[in-house]
Amino acid sequence: MDRYAVIGHPIKHSQSPFIHCSFAEQTGEQLDYRRLLAPLDGFADTLSHFAREGGRGCNITVPFKTQAMELAGELTERARLAGAVNTLHLQEDGWWLGDNTDGAGLVLDLKRLEFPLAGARILLLGAGGAARGAMAPLLAEQPAQLVVANRTPARADELVQRFGHLGNITSAQLEHPGTGFDIIINSTSASLQGEALSLDAAVCHPGTRVYDMMYGREETVFLAWARELGLEHRHDGLGMLVGQAAESFYLWRGVRPDIMPVLTSLRAKLE
Ligand code: ATR
Repeated sequence: MDRYAVIGHPIKHSQSPFIHCSFAEQTGEQLDYRRLLAPLDGFADTLSHFAREGGRGCNITVPFKTQAMELAGELTERARLAGAVNTLHLQEDGWWLGDNTDGAGLVLDLKRLEFPLAGARILLLGAGGAARGAMAPLLAEQPAQLVVANRTPARADELVQRFGHLGNITSAQLEHPGTGFDIIINSTSASLQGEALSLDAAVCHPGTRVYDMMYGREETVFLAWARELGLEHRHDGLGMLVGQAAESFYLWRGVRPDIMPVLTSLRAKLE
């Protein structure tokens, strides 16, 4: 049976085996998908051992996404733009194709949620790896404007320089990013530390839709802020997790799984 895995450190909390096994069951694909813990200094060895044992593809998570990019024989355009690889696919002559499905997974989920991306004014909070992966897929949807606001302004400026040719992007300060955005996406890890972002209520209008790439059993700090402002459309990043997995599954198997039932059972499992 074709073997797949998610490789990271730590790895025991990864939901990827549940998601991919659910996809396999749903589509009738025969595959084996497991977690693989790589030593912090042993990612390359773990990967080549996995290939020798019949591994055909893998997802890569923290902290190996940059190393995975370096080990890939070739990159997809979206992986090159993201500067990180979250999916490897073994090719017939033995080299790994490196892809990044995180941004595509985000857009897939935003579309599922009927966020009107084309022509929208979008505020992206944060300018780290997660933001960088989201830039090109978001800009491909032709928003009217994409404003990147980050605690460290230089990182937002860097994203504007890198992706400026793909659309109307500007950087802004986190405290004063502008007013009345249609969509606000939080890519910062502030929620992980339970920290609020000190955003001004004027960044929203009554119909603003918000999305937090983070997720958890509890409502994130960012989504609680949006709820307190009375915003109706608030979503966490669990659908993005399932969406990026669906894109990886498609790369490996050529079959597009249905996200919705897997998202519903994953949500129930986490509660
Ligand atoms: P990831 O790969 O998850 O994006 P990262 O590259 O470490 O992780 O980026 C984390 C992002 O969250 C950055 O934009 C970071 O802001 P800085 O560039 O200023 O560090 C942002 N971030 C983390 N904690 C934050 C906080 N408490 N308030 C505001 N921004 C925060």
